[in-house]
Amino acid sequence: VHGVPASLSAKVVGSYAYLTVRDRLPTILTKVIDTIHRNKNKFFEEYGEVGIQAEKQTISLLSKMRNELQTDKPVLALTDSLQDTECWNQYLQRQQKQQGDQESVSWFKSPWLYVECYMYRRVHEALWLNPPISDYDVFNEGKTQSFFESQQAVMTLCTYLEGVNKNMEELSKNQLLEHFNKLLQVSLWGNKCDLSISAGRDNSQKTSPIDSLNSLQPFILVNDSNMVWSTLISSQRQGQSEKTTAVRVDIVLDNAGFELVTDLVLADFLISSGLAHEVYFHGKSIPWFVSDVTANDFQWTIRQTMAANHKWMSKNGVQWKSHLKAGVWSYHDHPFWTQPNEFCDMADDAPDLYATLQGADLVLFKGDLNYRKLTGDRDWDHTVGFGTALRGFGPAPLCSLRTLKANVQVGLQPGQGEKLTSQDPDWMTSGKYGVIQFYSSNSE
Ligand code: F6P
Ligand code: MG
Repeated sequence: VHGVPASLSAKVVGSYAYLTVRDRLPTILTKVIDTIHRNKNKFFEEYGEVGIQAEKQTISLLSKMRNELQTDKPVLALTDSLQDTECWNQYLQRQQKQQGDQESVSWFKSPWLYVECYMYRRVHEALWLNPPISDYDVFNEGKTQSFFESQQAVMTLCTYLEGVNKNMEELSKNQLLEHFNKLLQVSLWGNKCDLSISAGRDNSQKTSPIDSLNSLQPFILVNDSNMVWSTLISSQRQGQSEKTTAVRVDIVLDNAGFELVTDLVLADFLISSGLAHEVYFHGKSIPWFVSDVTANDFQWTIRQTMAANHKWMSKNGVQWKSHLKAGVWSYHDHPFWTQPNEFCDMADDAPDLYATLQGADLVLFKGDLNYRKLTGDRDWDHTVGFGTALRGFGPAPLCSLRTLKANVQVGLQPGQGEKLTSQDPDWMTSGKYGVIQFYSSNSE
């Protein structure tokens, strides 16, 4: 009965979507071009003339795209032939049909979510069309740097985890719950450290992730952690009665660097506490939104942790490696995560992925982009229920751990949004606020 609200779009002059397409995306593209050029002797010239040409060609394709963006040209079909190329081009055709003409599917006139995803896919295309370095990750430098810049915070967190794990046997249920809540919140705030919102500027964790939790408490706008906890506890009970079912938690990852470490620490705790027996991590199959985790980042982070010159950090790294080896942890990727679709399309457009998620007892969605896709990146009223905004998406009980960086937020109390707007006009885009927002079709 209720209409679905419009997609956020740069066509609303002055909106955050508009500012992103006008300013932040071109800045990111300029950085990409600069990175390729700066690294040309490291990655390209070793291939001789082919490499030199590849570097020039890639840069010229990227500058051309930046120009298309800045002059609001129509979105073009992809010309590579990867696994997902057809999907992207069909998606574009559908948009063109809906709009009635090709011109109006342009950088500023289309849904923001779509053009922003498309930009990262075009970066991938530009590299792919120019072998021999087609699998070069232009964002790698920034991701590894932000990991190293968060070293102190990583060590603090690993030391904390060691303390918890050492006393695990003696913990009362309340103490266990307390640690669970802390690590859930550390993982939430870890999402502040992404490189997309800062257009690639340093955004690492500098303060102690545990000590700052109390002062951050008032910035959690929705906190459903008790429902996340009870979901895990009741999965245990079901598991016990059927004897064979292991409790599985899926984490749909967002950023590499400090945020990924917070997710690994949470996953470690879920296993060591017995709250879960299996964790699936879902990452991206191509470099995405500057700092998102790829398979390479995932493996690299665990290797770095193992090799660290810090007792508890390296101990954790070794533990994580053995979780992966034993299959207690596993890493998965799927092309759907790097398509522009809202998650309510998943059951139709990626039924295999949807079926995979159905096997989880709980799915944690990290970060802002996942929240935008959960809610369709639409101009929802703030009081609309999370379940309504999900529009039928619900493969399993799910929870979003997200700091707010885009103009979409649902599930607030009446008046809460208005109050925030009057106190802090940038509350939805500053990354200062966060939500731990849960949904399960069972609870309706
Ligand atoms: O608007 C900020 C932004 O670049 C959005 O485009 C995107 O949703 C977000 O940052 C990325 O954040 P996250 O890494 O939390 O998904
Ligand atoms: Mg991200």
